[in-house]
Amino acid sequence: MKAHQKGMVVWLLGHSGAGKSTLAQMLAHRLETDGYRTLPLDGDVVRAGMNSDLGFSDADRLENIRRVAELCKILLEKDLIVICSFITPMQSHRDLLRKTLGDRYLEIYLECPIAICEQRDVKGLYRKARNHEIENFTGIGSGFDVPTQPDLTIPTALWQADECAEAVYRLTIGAMPGG
Ligand code: PPS
Repeated sequence: MKAHQKGMVVWLLGHSGAGKSTLAQMLAHRLETDGYRTLPLDGDVVRAGMNSDLGFSDADRLENIRRVAELCKILLEKDLIVICSFITPMQSHRDLLRKTLGDRYLEIYLECPIAICEQRDVKGLYRKARNHEIENFTGIGSGFDVPTQPDLTIPTALWQADECAEAVYRLTIGAMPGG
């Protein structure tokens, strides 16, 4: 592990299909190649295991984020760079993250028009939501607050994937002592 590595939580948020998981993988690869130790936490993965008791009501989403924030706090003690990919739809979720993680929290908003996310529909979830097969789908049956104070906003529909990864990489490294 790099001598000057300091624990950070790089929190990627945005609609389903905005590019969170792809960007998380690219960022992890770039950081690991440079000798940093990373740990990815992805909404689908966490919800398949640790948070499998939670759904997508307002209360369950808040509990989802709260538990992940507490886990991040523990992981920060090991100076890991935790890369989180969660929709994190409400401003209150982000406020809780900043309160829990303080200056170790980097909030990255992946800005992508919902129409483009729906057009991509990589997992077929938007189609299901439109057909009422999924309830409370973010952007259709459930809300999304535009972040008020992200550390970085990435227009993922406009930039190439490697440009997006480079911007987040620079921010992350810049937040390290000596970075
Ligand atoms: S949240 O809102 O932050 O608690 O959501 P998150 O933990 O990131 O989970 C999002 C992934 O769950 C799948 N999924 C849904 N997303 C949004 N709304 C509804 N109703 C829903 N049902 C299932 C979906 O695969 C999300 O993954 P991403 O990577 O965002 O597409």
